[in-house]
Amino acid sequence: MCGIIGYTGNRQAKEVILSGLKRLEYRGYDSAGIAIANGAMTLLKDKGGIDHLISILPEIRGKYGIGHTRWATHGPPIKNNSHPMLDCKGEIALVHNGIIENNVALREELMKRGHVFRSETDTEVAVHLLEEFFEGNLEDAMRKTVTRLEGSYALVAMHSKENGKIVGARNISPLVVGVGKRENFLASDVPAILEYTDRMIYLLDGEIVTLTKEQVKITDFEGKEIKRSWQKVEMSLEGAEKGGYDHFMLKEIFEQPRAIQDTIMGANLNAESGYTLGLRPETIKIIACGTSYHAGYVGKYMFEELAHIPTTVELASEYRFSSDTTSKPLVIGISQSGETTDTLSAIKTAQKRGLDTLGIVNIVGSTMTREADSIFYTRAGLEVGVAATKTYITQLIAMLSLAIKTGVATQSLGIDDARRLTNEMKKLPKNVRSVLDQSDKIFEIAQEIAGARSMFFLGRNINFPVALEGALKMKEISYIHAEGYPGGELKHGPLALVTDETPVVAIAVKDQTHGKMLGNIGEVSARGAMVIGIGTEGDRELEKYVDHVIYIPDVPPLFTPVLTSVVMQLLAYHVANILGCEIDKPRHLAKSVTVE
Ligand code: M6R
Repeated sequence: MCGIIGYTGNRQAKEVILSGLKRLEYRGYDSAGIAIANGAMTLLKDKGGIDHLISILPEIRGKYGIGHTRWATHGPPIKNNSHPMLDCKGEIALVHNGIIENNVALREELMKRGHVFRSETDTEVAVHLLEEFFEGNLEDAMRKTVTRLEGSYALVAMHSKENGKIVGARNISPLVVGVGKRENFLASDVPAILEYTDRMIYLLDGEIVTLTKEQVKITDFEGKEIKRSWQKVEMSLEGAEKGGYDHFMLKEIFEQPRAIQDTIMGANLNAESGYTLGLRPETIKIIACGTSYHAGYVGKYMFEELAHIPTTVELASEYRFSSDTTSKPLVIGISQSGETTDTLSAIKTAQKRGLDTLGIVNIVGSTMTREADSIFYTRAGLEVGVAATKTYITQLIAMLSLAIKTGVATQSLGIDDARRLTNEMKKLPKNVRSVLDQSDKIFEIAQEIAGARSMFFLGRNINFPVALEGALKMKEISYIHAEGYPGGELKHGPLALVTDETPVVAIAVKDQTHGKMLGNIGEVSARGAMVIGIGTEGDRELEKYVDHVIYIPDVPPLFTPVLTSVVMQLLAYHVANILGCEIDKPRHLAKSVTVE
């Protein structure tokens, strides 16, 4: 979390930094700040987002500077804890993304030597270390500073006496260099600087970079120079604009047909290629966090049904602490950002255990794309809303594609069946559109549930993880407490919470779970709950059991999660909008979670 940016060149640094921070805001929005050097250091920072920073920012002129948007870890989001941090003399400014784990010991040591701390953050120790080590060259000081730091960091610093120089260092947290013409950039991610250049160099762990407007110099922590040329990034900034929608989330929900189509194309699912995969694992373990975990959970059912491969799903933050066993699964890590620290650490753990790893990633060039043994790209495009929507849908498509290919590879699935499923998949964009067309109807239902304090989402089998995802979407953006449960599990405890004040969303599509789901719906409506059913077109029986029903087109059961999920997304969106919530930037959250 946290977004950082640095600029040196011929433009006014303020403009570049503020536009970059706007694009980085999804990484954190507790506070923001900017420092520009122009002989002396000028710094402004405050609690609140970038718009607030812009509103209080005086005219600052200067051609090199740094900026930060914060997601608080150490110390509450107040002005003093905002970045950039200054050293005691006010000559060095520093921004940081990550967590410096040995900050308490370092702070004590530095205070004993007379350094005055102005914040409660872990970051501030780094700027005081730079101050101690500075002997006229910030790059050398950075090299000595990183030897003292434990934890994760992307650091970007500048000194008011080293005109035009910006120094960055990376360990675990991402940092990318943008190479311009007589100007250079540093940022947490590509979109922040894409407006100015598409020539990028991804910094790796254990590297320091020194930028002037003419030069980019990369060294390792020992000082050995590293030659790495830039790569041209094919990414459109279109995704970073709302394009007439009220929120990025709504725009991204409506972009799903296109995202699905692109991901299917990228999956290269055709009989001519023999549905080749090169993988015939005996077992599969899927690791991910949050929404990506739910996509993986849906994937478990797909792998088991199409490829007959026993598949387990584990939260990445838990996998790291699990015991190594004799089983040697293929480990599939799923992450839209490719930067989630828990998932990256889990991939590393799997590799240490000698397991093959496959990453399913949306962001090209992200850390996971370099760390996993092989990569499947989802093609959702840039997603700005913190709530994952189109990236999740494309993860479901990735799961389906991989399950079909693995099924063919293991001969659990014949080529004809694979071809039939592929053709069905290609109809999904159209089917998703028909769910999107019901947005107004879903809005009307949302009006009835917006006053609720608590909700339940029910599903069974492959739609159970969809219920989990529906509940996550609802709580994340509307702040209504929501729980996802398998329909059959309610009676084992949670039913005690069901009253006429707890709306229930029940997925009761026409599959093997239909009859049982109707029974579960009966149980909650008998306790007074208002029930919103999600069913298959033409299922008139369901209408008798529920207060409202949203129909999805009749598709093979394995494909239903793609459509039922879209209903849940729209429901959460409309409820949050009715409640006036900050939909794209929910409180306490950030898009890219780079702390453990
Ligand atoms: O970038 P990742 O897919 O690794 O992110 C994982 C979660 O942080 C993410 O899915 C989160 O749960 C979403 N904001 C939920 O909408």
